[in-house]
Amino acid sequence: MTQQPYAQRRQQLLERLGDGVAVLATAPERLRNRDSHYPYRFDSYFWYLSGFPEPDAVIVLVGGREPRSLLFCREKNEERETWDGFRYGPEAAAKAFGFSEAHSIASLEQQLPELLANRGAVWHSLGHDAAADQRIANALNTIRQQSRSGTRAPGEIRDLRGVLDEMRLVKDEHEIASMRRAADIASAGHSGAMRACRPGMAEYELEAELGYEFRRRGADGHAYTPIVAGGANACILHYVENNKLLGGHSLVLIDAGCEVAGYASDITRTFPVNGRFSAEQREVYEIVLAAQDAAIAAVRPGASFADYHHAALRVLVQGLIDLKLISGSVDGAVDSEAYKPWYMHRTGHWLGLDVHDAGEYKTGTGDDDWVRLRPGMTLTVEPGLYFRPGGDVPGHLHGIGVRIEDDVLVTAAGCTVYTNAPKTVAEIEEVMRHD
Ligand code: GLY
Ligand code: MN
Ligand code: MN
Repeated sequence: MTQQPYAQRRQQLLERLGDGVAVLATAPERLRNRDSHYPYRFDSYFWYLSGFPEPDAVIVLVGGREPRSLLFCREKNEERETWDGFRYGPEAAAKAFGFSEAHSIASLEQQLPELLANRGAVWHSLGHDAAADQRIANALNTIRQQSRSGTRAPGEIRDLRGVLDEMRLVKDEHEIASMRRAADIASAGHSGAMRACRPGMAEYELEAELGYEFRRRGADGHAYTPIVAGGANACILHYVENNKLLGGHSLVLIDAGCEVAGYASDITRTFPVNGRFSAEQREVYEIVLAAQDAAIAAVRPGASFADYHHAALRVLVQGLIDLKLISGSVDGAVDSEAYKPWYMHRTGHWLGLDVHDAGEYKTGTGDDDWVRLRPGMTLTVEPGLYFRPGGDVPGHLHGIGVRIEDDVLVTAAGCTVYTNAPKTVAEIEEVMRHD
């Protein structure tokens, strides 16, 4: 158990709280249907500060001259552990996760007013969870009832997410190591799907290959619902049914990533079901690949978050002009958004504990107020082109949807692409050759 990065992050947060107190709960367990729960996933902010995997847990960080870091969690319980598995219990949890104190979650309600009394601010994610809001409101009301004895309630409720989002935007070494592992495993999953793919298979068979590789290699599972979209299904951006047969002459788009120690990878590959790109598939594919190359070349410290989107966009627009779908100049088409029917999303997002990770994209409301990239930021680069059947394009393009997505770390020198699934036409055709 490496508790150090978590303790370090709590320390960093404590330094920003002044004499305020932060209260942060993990995610609740959620029922799927009678007696059966969804697989448990902790809250990302909570995990970022603790590495503690159990539900029913709350962190309280008390700032000021004598900072305290408290964990409230479930008590040991032999009977429940027989049914549901191991629980740390407060004593072992404090030691294992480096908290200065830990208490039973059952005592939180009673202890919270004392912890918040006479403090300037309570830091909380207001509006995220009704029960958590209520817990804070109850504690403040309890303190207010003691005002005649001179006890004061915090005058401010401040949003904890702002400061944590800023911290989460730049990844530390520990995070980068988990993300690299998630990227390696997901890359192997995509290669495995390419190798396994045969005409006549169903989309879910490729989904099964990915799940198999992810779990076999030790990932916790999928980081998000995978998209396995044969042919025209690739033109539905959030297609997740994954239940159709794969046409022998079509492409298949797979957008899938795994989670390792809470961290996501997010990869998209598009390849021909029969292992050989047709001329028209290849033409579209090469445009998207060139757009991705141009975007990756624009990821470096000091560049703005929008720069790599614009770099990709210019190449895609030139490609659409070459395909005779757009006329006029690249600048004109970028300004008029003539590309929108075929490229309707942006070129990427922050990546981390959440697949669409925490962190602002803009620093102000101006058109150019995009966040500047710094070493340690991680993002996806995922241009695409989507030609829906029946759309206003020549018939030979109908049903071709291509996206290529990789995960990128901003470094002092520029960036590193740390996903590595086969990507060029030659690489894909090579890995899919069955002789
Ligand atoms: N897989 C979600 C995304 O690419 O943004
Ligand atoms: Mn993505
Ligand atoms: Mn994706």
